[in-house]
Amino acid sequence: MTTTLAPRSLRSCLGRFATGVVVVTFDGPDGPRGITVNSFTSVSTEPPLVLVSVARRARSHDALAGRPFCVNVLGAEQEPIARQFAGAAGDPAVWVEGAAIPHLAGMLAHLECRPWRNYDGGDHTLFLGEVVDFDYRDGAALGFHTSAFTSIAESQLGIEDLI
Ligand SMILES: Cc1cc2nc3c(=O)[nH]c(=O)nc-3n(C[C@H](O)[C@H](O)[C@H](O)COP(=O)(O)O)c2cc1C
Repeated sequence: MTTTLAPRSLRSCLGRFATGVVVVTFDGPDGPRGITVNSFTSVSTEPPLVLVSVARRARSHDALAGRPFCVNVLGAEQEPIARQFAGAAGDPAVWVEGAAIPHLAGMLAHLECRPWRNYDGGDHTLFLGEVVDFDYRDGAALGFHTSAFTSIAESQLGIEDLI
């Protein structure tokens, strides 16, 4: 049985959860493409798994199935890239030459993944990928909160020992 809740209000509630922003890139049938998502989450370290949730209605949805992909984590100054891969016009982002899986230049972090499993997520599909390579740099992150982009300052002190 499916419960019916007011979708707009539910979205506002969910929007109170602050996230980062990533662009998922992959080699589609017509060449490199990407989609902006904030539904990225880490899942497991052994094996190293991450997850993104992609709307069934997105053009990327069917193209992504079964393909290696790269999670590109955006820095605070990269909001135009987030907008571009969410369908807005703008200067095209710069692709990294020669990468096995297409990814974007100048990211805060990137994780190259091979497809692991897909799961039904209602009007979305949960794509899990196994991380095969990654890299990162320091810097402020692009955030998303209450339907607005924001900047997440680089912490002065890491708390990796708490999690
Ligand atoms: C900040 C932000 C977060 C988004 N998060 C998601 C997401 O988690 N999953 C999703 O399917 N679409 C998400 N979108 C919407 C897609 O980026 C957008 O629908 C895109 O145009 C789909 O491109 P495509 O149809 O070419 O695949 C998000 C957009 C923005 C701006």
